[in-house]
Amino acid sequence: MAGMTTSRPARPARLWRLSLTVCTAAWLAACGALDHLRLRPVEPPPPEAASALTAKPGWTATRHAVAAANPLAAEAGRHVLAQGGSAVDAAIAVQMVLTLVEPQSSGIGGGAFLLHWDGQRARAYDGRETAPAAADGRLFLDPSGKPMAFHDAVVGGRSVGVPGTVKMLEMAHARHGKLPWSVLFEPAIRLAEGGFAVSPRLHTLLAADAHLRKDPVAAAYFYLDGQPLPIGHTLKNPLLAEVLRRLSVDGARALHQGEIAQDIADKVQRHPTNPGRLTTADLAAYQPKERPPLCHPHMAAGRTWTLCGFPPPSSGAIAIGQILGMLGQTEAAHAPLTGAGLPSAAWLHTYAEASRLAFADRALYVADPDFVAAPDGDWRSLLDPAYLHERARRIGPQRASDVPAGQRGLVRTSLAPMPDQPEYGTSHISIVDGDGHAVSMTTTIEDAFGARQMVRGFLLNNELTDFSFLPADSAGRPIANRVEPGKRPRSSMAPTLVFDDRGQLAMTGGSPGGALIIHYTAKTLHGVLEWGLSPQQAIDLPNFGTTGGPVVLEKGRFPAAVVEALKGRGHEVREQDMTSGLQAITRASAAGRTVWRGGADPRREGVVLGD
Ligand code: GLY
Repeated sequence: MAGMTTSRPARPARLWRLSLTVCTAAWLAACGALDHLRLRPVEPPPPEAASALTAKPGWTATRHAVAAANPLAAEAGRHVLAQGGSAVDAAIAVQMVLTLVEPQSSGIGGGAFLLHWDGQRARAYDGRETAPAAADGRLFLDPSGKPMAFHDAVVGGRSVGVPGTVKMLEMAHARHGKLPWSVLFEPAIRLAEGGFAVSPRLHTLLAADAHLRKDPVAAAYFYLDGQPLPIGHTLKNPLLAEVLRRLSVDGARALHQGEIAQDIADKVQRHPTNPGRLTTADLAAYQPKERPPLCHPHMAAGRTWTLCGFPPPSSGAIAIGQILGMLGQTEAAHAPLTGAGLPSAAWLHTYAEASRLAFADRALYVADPDFVAAPDGDWRSLLDPAYLHERARRIGPQRASDVPAGQRGLVRTSLAPMPDQPEYGTSHISIVDGDGHAVSMTTTIEDAFGARQMVRGFLLNNELTDFSFLPADSAGRPIANRVEPGKRPRSSMAPTLVFDDRGQLAMTGGSPGGALIIHYTAKTLHGVLEWGLSPQQAIDLPNFGTTGGPVVLEKGRFPAAVVEALKGRGHEVREQDMTSGLQAITRASAAGRTVWRGGADPRREGVVLGD
């Protein structure tokens, strides 16, 4: 790592000690204590199992940097950047290695959103999965018309959407690649053939998962005599190496047509108890899309920034923009961290109320824009400062009993709000290359280990369970995010680029974590832009949030007085693991030169590497 330095950030000593002692104990205690099996209507569950908390030092690089959820993946990206590759080149190498070493979170069997900055313009590349042509609003209803239990829907072929990650990366590479496509697969092929050490996190998730071993192919790969592969076990994946080799030569069509596509369709359709409707025709028809990124001004610490995020089908950027925009209309806007380095109870209350208002709009309006019209014809109408001012007037000193969605324009919507559903999984990649161009990419197979269906060494997604299981409410009003053929399910993924008042890239970041992605990312943005923290300090801050019901606080991170103060304002408070996987890189300057400061989440295995 020539030229790369790690640095203990200049944070209040008291906060640093708190992170290391309280949190380590809390996270170790939580190992293996998983409960993903129940459908909890408004209490957001943690996205993937907690594994262990590892303090991260924060990093600085001068030329280029890559942040990813696994050191082997980050190293592949750094290698590409050191060869003169672009940020998109590095993202491809990282994604291919993540398919191998972090199979629980993302891969070539899933979907992704990539935001790109080319020094002039931000672009959004949509590689979200699509529903098969034969899918309809009854996909997740049982014979009596009731929504299926979440994991009954997830496990098998039913939940598998047409993967989009590789085709989307191919589109981005055609426009922004510098190195040949084929060389970007070399690190992953080498590791798949030579083997990699099973990480503590992969081991923990294998041990906790009740469903993966039901697939005989996955069981033979991930388990030995019924036991999860031990930490450090050298795991080889020659089948995946062969798939990657074909992708490197023939491009994405090797996945979407021919033998591999046939194997995917067979696996989905021939599942013995829960078959799906995906066909080879669906795979062949898949198209990634370029969409206009959702960019809007944001005031923080007396400066005007521009936040650029991913538009629908993701709800992430709209919800983050609304929450931070509403906060900005209140006294909490500029409230500092307390002496303990934590957000105050008053700030958390305002944040929670803003979040409940944002999640009400999300439930009513946000879905695939190719199927559902934006309110007032433009998704930015939900970020209009006058609208947010009006919405923020609902925030009072006590928890509001009623939090309806807002109304945009003259036409009242005929849609019904979508009930809350679990969302899990996912991984985030942040990259800045030697030209100062950047990628922010969030990538997913949805639940941990996706649909638990393994084909030729990779896992298939369960992204279709991000659709509403119910197509309509009891009055028959349709839900925007209902299943329809060819439609992309609503996401919470929030890859984000931030620009300063001179139009310079200031930050690239994002997180996994289901619906809580919105809060993890909002926390980090507010931490960096308003509280002036380094990316590592902002990521280290305790997590918090709500999707409309209880306020959820990261277990063991907030004093009892904060919990009691929130209860005093009428909130139900839940303390639980909140397994974010934030990775962020920010611009700073040292001795008149630009340097890149990186942070990776202590709650997962990510690192930032660069030169
Ligand atoms: N499946 C996670 C998301 O798209 O938000």
